[in-house]
Amino acid sequence: MTKQQDNQEIVLAKRPSGVPDQSTFEFRDIDVPKLKEGEVLLKSIYVSVDPGMRGFMDKGDDDDRGNKYELGKPITSRSVAQVVESRSKKFTKGDIVYGRLDWKKLQSFNADKLEKVNPDLAPISTALSILGVTGLAAYFGLIKIGNPQKGETVVVSGAAGSVGSVAVQIAKLKGCKVIGIAGSKEKIDYLENELGIDKGINYKKTNNMAKALKDACPNGIDVFFDNVGGEIADDVLEILNKNGRIVICGQIAEYNDENPPKGPRPQHALIQKSARMEGFVVFDFKDEFEDAKNQLSKWYNNGQMKYKENLIEGFENIPSAFIGLFSGDNIGKQLVKISEIEKQ
Ligand SMILES: NC(=O)c1ccc[n+]([C@@H]2O[C@H](COP(=O)([O-])OP(=O)(O)OC[C@H]3O[C@@H](n4cnc5c(N)ncnc54)[C@H](OP(=O)(O)O)[C@@H]3O)[C@@H](O)[C@H]2O)c1
Repeated sequence: MTKQQDNQEIVLAKRPSGVPDQSTFEFRDIDVPKLKEGEVLLKSIYVSVDPGMRGFMDKGDDDDRGNKYELGKPITSRSVAQVVESRSKKFTKGDIVYGRLDWKKLQSFNADKLEKVNPDLAPISTALSILGVTGLAAYFGLIKIGNPQKGETVVVSGAAGSVGSVAVQIAKLKGCKVIGIAGSKEKIDYLENELGIDKGINYKKTNNMAKALKDACPNGIDVFFDNVGGEIADDVLEILNKNGRIVICGQIAEYNDENPPKGPRPQHALIQKSARMEGFVVFDFKDEFEDAKNQLSKWYNNGQMKYKENLIEGFENIPSAFIGLFSGDNIGKQLVKISEIEKQ
């Protein structure tokens, strides 16, 4: 191992209680690793921060994909990186790759666990946004579970975020009336004026959400795409239509709760409305990812779909970017840019 000043990692310093802060993380100077056969040396280019990572910071069991952060070990998240050295036949120097990487400036990685990103198809950062897990969660959650029909009313919470901003656009493409709920005037303006939704509701400025929803949805709600949970979801239930569908994509309002509230319970309302509530993990649909990416990139390249990335620069700002998700700092996908691509 050669010691090099400018390699660093970010590890989990302590398990957070409530919303994480800077003390959750620790920066460490580390060596640049020597490569083994089959490995590549990667330079981080874009790092994704995702609300779901909060759960990996708690004590408990791994999820079914083995995600759990250990104390003193590097945080991992989906990232785009460039190969700077290769001992694998799969990649050569200069290739752009995608994978769940450590929060390190430079790292060695098993080439078999990486996917190549084609920079000619779309900007490489889209592998973490519209053509990545969040775009795919919007696509599968809305289409496969929400199954929105022309003329129906679709409500999306967390509507200006990475998943939400794609979900509202797919619902519009399906010919639905679309209501988006988000937490600032700037977000509502973006949703109404740039993404073309029918009505935005700023939940932080609305005293009576139940009334705001009734006013915005005079024909009731057919599909609720929920990224948030909490009280907003309770209000939606009141005006869910017969055969309504509730898509449980995320529950960010509860990710920092030590003891999440237990009620109110929706079962009775679901019986009365013959309604369905269904959660999902995007990887349930992994066999169909390629088709979905083709459709999403077609919509994007035809100008039928827009995406926005909220870019923060600098490795040292990764923790702040992650923490900011819980105060709504981002419009669109929150990414951190670590370095420039080196032209070969
Ligand atoms: N099921 C899956 O496979 C899957 C895959 C990816 C993501 N997800 C989930 O989908 C949701 C959205 O993820 P994302 O990556 O697109 O994040 P995001 O929406 O881009 O960012 C999080 C947003 O959540 C809102 N928020 C934060 N705390 C809140 C609270 N207490 N109450 C209401 N809103 C709050 C903030 O916007 P405001 O300003 O509007 O408050 C913030 O900008 C998350 O719950 C995530 O865990 C699920």
